[in-house]
Amino acid sequence: MKIVLIHGQNHQGSSYHIGRIIAEKVGSKNEISEFFLPRDLAHFCLGCYQCVEEEQHCPFYKEKNKIMSEVEKADLLILTTPTYCLRASAPMKTFIDLTFTYWMNHKPKAAMFQKKAVVVSTAAGTGTKSAIKDITTALTYWGIPNIERYGISVQAMNWEQVSANKKLKIDKETTALANKVKYKKAKVGIKTKAIFYMMRFMQKKDWSASPAEKDYWKQQGWLDKERPWKNKKVSPH
Ligand SMILES: Cc1cc2nc3c(=O)[nH]c(=O)nc-3n(C[C@H](O)[C@H](O)[C@H](O)COP(=O)(O)O)c2cc1C
Repeated sequence: MKIVLIHGQNHQGSSYHIGRIIAEKVGSKNEISEFFLPRDLAHFCLGCYQCVEEEQHCPFYKEKNKIMSEVEKADLLILTTPTYCLRASAPMKTFIDLTFTYWMNHKPKAAMFQKKAVVVSTAAGTGTKSAIKDITTALTYWGIPNIERYGISVQAMNWEQVSANKKLKIDKETTALANKVKYKKAKVGIKTKAIFYMMRFMQKKDWSASPAEKDYWKQQGWLDKERPWKNKKVSPH
């Protein structure tokens, strides 16, 4: 199983360690690749909309594509973020912005509909739920059908400060989560299909951001009988 970890932080704290623990419980070390934000994508979206016409026209395409080409090949994505002011970290939010054309209302990739994901966040006290939601919303709109959440209050500023009891609890819970992820098949359900059909309707009505998006949907065959969850074809850029 190919696993890609995307950390919404450069440092290796509690969120990083929990993400890593889950990855290593699901697969072997040589199946794991890892990206850190902002280290691997240190840009904000400029709102130029170049990507809507052509993905390669994004001013940050080169760095972005290093991550996204791995993402597209992965079976499992694990995204981690510390909870900052009750939300995901700013670098993680920037990553979400820079990949907005992957959303179903633009040019989703067929490969996403075959993937599983885990979203991890730690907080000192509270806020993991809303931090995780920032990310799960994006992944849902990418078309990823199976998304697990792991949020925990660690009462710590770094991994070393996390108590032995808390680490025991994390170990137990991540084992259960890893087993679930390992053995459950990625299957598109009613929610993903409902979003897809809404966006398909929008494309048919020419309500999209650009005619380039409708052309893309046509190329994929999604305005006819093809469906992204029915084949393993990786959408071209
Ligand atoms: C800028 C900033 C904002 C934070 N906001 C929250 C918060 O809203 N709620 C909370 O419980 N902890 C908050 N914390 C604490 C971290 O979420 C907590 O220490 C977390 O476990 C850090 O994860 P890490 O070890 O992966 O960096 C904040 C810390 C920082 C630096």
